[in-house]
Amino acid sequence: MKKRNKLQLLLFVFMSVMLVLAACSSSGSSGGGGSESGQKEGGAEDKGAGGKLVIGFSQVGAESEWRTANTESVKKAITDAGHELKFSDAQQKQENQIKAIRSFIAQKVDAIVFSPVVETGFETVLKEAKDAGIPVFLADRAVDIEDDSLWVTFLGSDFIEEGRKAANWLVEEMGDEEEVNIVELQGTVGSAPAIDRKEGFEEVLADHPNFKITKSQTGDFTRAKGKEVMEAFLKSDGDNIDVLYSHNDDMAIGAIQAIEEYGLKPGEDIKIIGVDAVKGAFEAMAAGKMNVTVECNPLFGPQLVELIEKHIAGEELEKRIAVEESIYTMDQAEELLPTRQY
Ligand code: AHR
Repeated sequence: MKKRNKLQLLLFVFMSVMLVLAACSSSGSSGGGGSESGQKEGGAEDKGAGGKLVIGFSQVGAESEWRTANTESVKKAITDAGHELKFSDAQQKQENQIKAIRSFIAQKVDAIVFSPVVETGFETVLKEAKDAGIPVFLADRAVDIEDDSLWVTFLGSDFIEEGRKAANWLVEEMGDEEEVNIVELQGTVGSAPAIDRKEGFEEVLADHPNFKITKSQTGDFTRAKGKEVMEAFLKSDGDNIDVLYSHNDDMAIGAIQAIEEYGLKPGEDIKIIGVDAVKGAFEAMAAGKMNVTVECNPLFGPQLVELIEKHIAGEELEKRIAVEESIYTMDQAEELLPTRQY
């Protein structure tokens, strides 16, 4: 064979091999449902069950004892399971969360865990995550968005039920009194727990006209603001407050300080209802300064990671998964305090 013919033959063989290789690789990447199934091409679906995932976690902030326990629980569960964690603290600001989610999308994470500061205004960024084929898991707080294909599942508490539990306790405790004046410390404006805890509480009290919410203002879920707002309530209406309903324990603890400084006895002169069941609330109850706390369990990290892994492995998940919770009163505090994990 002439030298020129040999070269032509070699070139022909080389081109044929390249064509076969290209055909094989393209049929491989289109076989698993790709972006239609909400999975990233060449990303999470390739991980298979038990593979290492990169998980972005956009947390609300560090506003309360509850939040600190929740952050720790989720971070630990992700790393304990051998996955890589990318964490972002939004410092209670929605714009920070939107930035964090965009950065997770740019980094092509396998899943996003997202605890939204407020309920609305996240459509665009969640759509961007969906278009990138990255599944979003709502943890603790829900969003108020019609298109529920923008997230896989919501794992967290039933905040309306927490509000109902608080009100039911109060009705049981003071239902016979002629008039009960309540002041309310609300959580962060526009947040799911603030909206729902108010709704559940008011729903029960609607059947009991002797209970009146005389003042209601946000304390942004922090001790400092809880104290500040309670000081203002006391200043304008000090002798006319029978009950404080606080949307979390941290604000209640701040308010207890304000009540003591004002010269009244929290737990006696003013009944104190909190939500979360953090250690600080148990300490206050054991000291007789707080009457009741409705549990909101932040330790769902392991359950959350399990859900992410199940989804990545192709399992169908319920759209809403509730965490089981209880309610604790002053008389149980001393015994239970040593057993509290957060
Ligand atoms: O979303 C849960 C709430 O957020 C907790 O009750 C509160 O303490 C927190 O900051």
